[in-house]
Amino acid sequence: MYAQRFLRPVFSREGEPRVTDFQFLTVPKIYMKAGAARTLGDYLAAESSVSSIFLVTDRGVREAGLLDNACASLSAAGVKVTICDDVVADPPEQLMLDMTEKARSAGCDGYLGLGGGSSLDAAKLLAVLAEGEQDLASMYGIDQIRGRRKPLFLVPTTAGTGSEVTPIAIVTTGETTKSGIVSPVLYADAAILDPELTIRLPGHVTAATGLDAMVHAIEAYTSRHKKNPISDALALKALSLLSAAVPAAYDDGTDLTARSDALLGSMLAGQAFANAPVAGVHALAYPLGGIFHLPHGLSNALVLPYVLEFNALSAKEQYAELYTHLTGDGQGGDESRAGKFAHYMSELCERVGLRQQLRDLGVPQDRLSDLASDAMKQTRLLINNPREISYEDALSIYEQAW
Ligand SMILES: NC(=O)c1ccc[n+]([C@@H]2O[C@H](COP(=O)([O-])OP(=O)(O)OC[C@H]3O[C@@H](n4cnc5c(N)ncnc54)[C@H](O)[C@@H]3O)[C@@H](O)[C@H]2O)c1
Ligand SMILES: [Fe+2]
Repeated sequence: MYAQRFLRPVFSREGEPRVTDFQFLTVPKIYMKAGAARTLGDYLAAESSVSSIFLVTDRGVREAGLLDNACASLSAAGVKVTICDDVVADPPEQLMLDMTEKARSAGCDGYLGLGGGSSLDAAKLLAVLAEGEQDLASMYGIDQIRGRRKPLFLVPTTAGTGSEVTPIAIVTTGETTKSGIVSPVLYADAAILDPELTIRLPGHVTAATGLDAMVHAIEAYTSRHKKNPISDALALKALSLLSAAVPAAYDDGTDLTARSDALLGSMLAGQAFANAPVAGVHALAYPLGGIFHLPHGLSNALVLPYVLEFNALSAKEQYAELYTHLTGDGQGGDESRAGKFAHYMSELCERVGLRQQLRDLGVPQDRLSDLASDAMKQTRLLINNPREISYEDALSIYEQAW
């Protein structure tokens, strides 16, 4: 089903012809419009036969009033809405099972995720779990979902994860491990993008989620096996949009142009990494979220400069290309521009308040080895990194970030 794994790496061996062969998947429909939430009911009525929808979100999104227009519009279109606002950041497995019970007893014929990545990931899984054909425990990893899902629509309220266009859902398993479920079944029927929903996103969330999106684009552009011409084009466009829009939206949350560009950029980056998967930065960021509950985007930003420096040995051409793409500066060799790219990203993190050290965020030095051990478990991500990361390498990166 997920034929990409049969394709050969884009990085060909020396002397072999470099042949372009790839597969690209995404959601079938993407609808973007400022104010789209206000006509969501009409959109759903036109695009589907759903008559009662299970709306998956978190309390923060609900209390920010972000459901109001969407719910009014759905009711006006004759769609019955059951709201479940139980989602918490990085949803734990038990919570997913509890929500599954609620979803099944509500008996809805469609699912709507409206919120940040945590809400969208939960909605994606619930649309599958509601069918009752397979246990959650057997879905982890790549391509393990068998069977169907209910109709699924996703409306992001952060400009970060790109979850609205990815076939991925992240669940916290055990006490601390962030485990991924990756399957084409998780591609939604439609992603609906309304930048107005992101206007009241606080500055620090804007910064962290925006950096998450930039890391998606960077890691897709250097992804070891499945990087392809479409993911490259999407990553480049995403980075141009996000590098300007994230600082602008951080400075002025009401700047609708910046909000629109950031939302578009995060969606394009999502399409890129859905096909050319993320790597070392995410592998080292996940344990920070799992063990210390640091927000996903902040976790990425904390390790980003050091992973870029580490990777530069193997990915200097791509980093140099990204640097020239973002700045127009083509002076110097690849190595020098790759170094400048790491510096550029580090300065951008600083500009939006994300240049912090692990020691200031409650991470004790004697837990760095636990972080490195946990990072080694992220084999799904580590295999995509342009340079192999050993336990010692991971520990050294955490020490630099500490
Ligand atoms: N599926 C994927 O492809 C993918 C990719 C990357 C990350 N993730 C996962 O997504 C999760 C992170 O998602 P996230 O960064 O979007 O954060 P989130 O969904 O955890 O939300 C963070 C906080 O922001 C609040 N919030 C969301 N939108 C708001 C708005 N418009 N105004 C005010 N407050 C708002 C929420 O209430 C919450 O308190 C992690 O679990 C991560 O592992 C998934
Ligand atoms: Fe991410």
